[in-house]
Amino acid sequence: MAEVKNIIPHDHTITKENRQALKGHKSCILWYTGLSGSGKSTVANKVEEKMFEMGLHTYILDGDNVRMGLNKGLTFSDADRTENIRRIGEVSKLFVDAGVIVGTAFISPFTSDRDMVRSIMKEGEFIEVYVDTPLDVCEQRDPKGLYKKARAGEIKFFTGIDSPYEAPAKPEIDLKTANRSVDECAQEIIDWMIANKYISA
Ligand code: ADX
Repeated sequence: MAEVKNIIPHDHTITKENRQALKGHKSCILWYTGLSGSGKSTVANKVEEKMFEMGLHTYILDGDNVRMGLNKGLTFSDADRTENIRRIGEVSKLFVDAGVIVGTAFISPFTSDRDMVRSIMKEGEFIEVYVDTPLDVCEQRDPKGLYKKARAGEIKFFTGIDSPYEAPAKPEIDLKTANRSVDECAQEIIDWMIANKYISA
């Protein structure tokens, strides 16, 4: 990226801490990562429903939706996936600054990209949730019929088939979804958030 000069950040009067105090809870990123079909969006959606009922301020950034807007035109090459995650990371940081609990549901296959987002956040603000669903289960679920297409050679560079997925080594939450209900999975995240004092029961 080219160097741009003469940009001087402004210090605003109202801070992230002020906004958190107004809302009555901490803000952070719940960063869901996992294969296509692993359940990232489904679990993120259920967690948001539960949090909404608890009176918490939330938002969800979702792979397929964001790729139709902010990240329109980015492909599934390694470089574009990295740019996809970089932009999501920056947008998520803004949401955290705004005092919101933001859930992000992106495959985010590369450890270095996820670690980059972690590095721009303060300690504790980045909660990595590995939606730990084996490839064969994702492929069996195949909610969008994309694995079938990838196996038939109709989609190139499909994650888990001919494009890599690097599983997190030390995620804050390792969420096993196989043979569990969506509600059970979402509750595990809510319980973790309560146990770690992000939110109150
Ligand atoms: S990421 O790798 O850059 O993090 P992202 O989460 O935004 O991916 O988008 C993944 C979604 O795009 C998948 O759930 C699937 O619906 C769709 N998709 C289309 N082509 C591909 C592909 N080649 N690899 C993975 N997902 C794809």
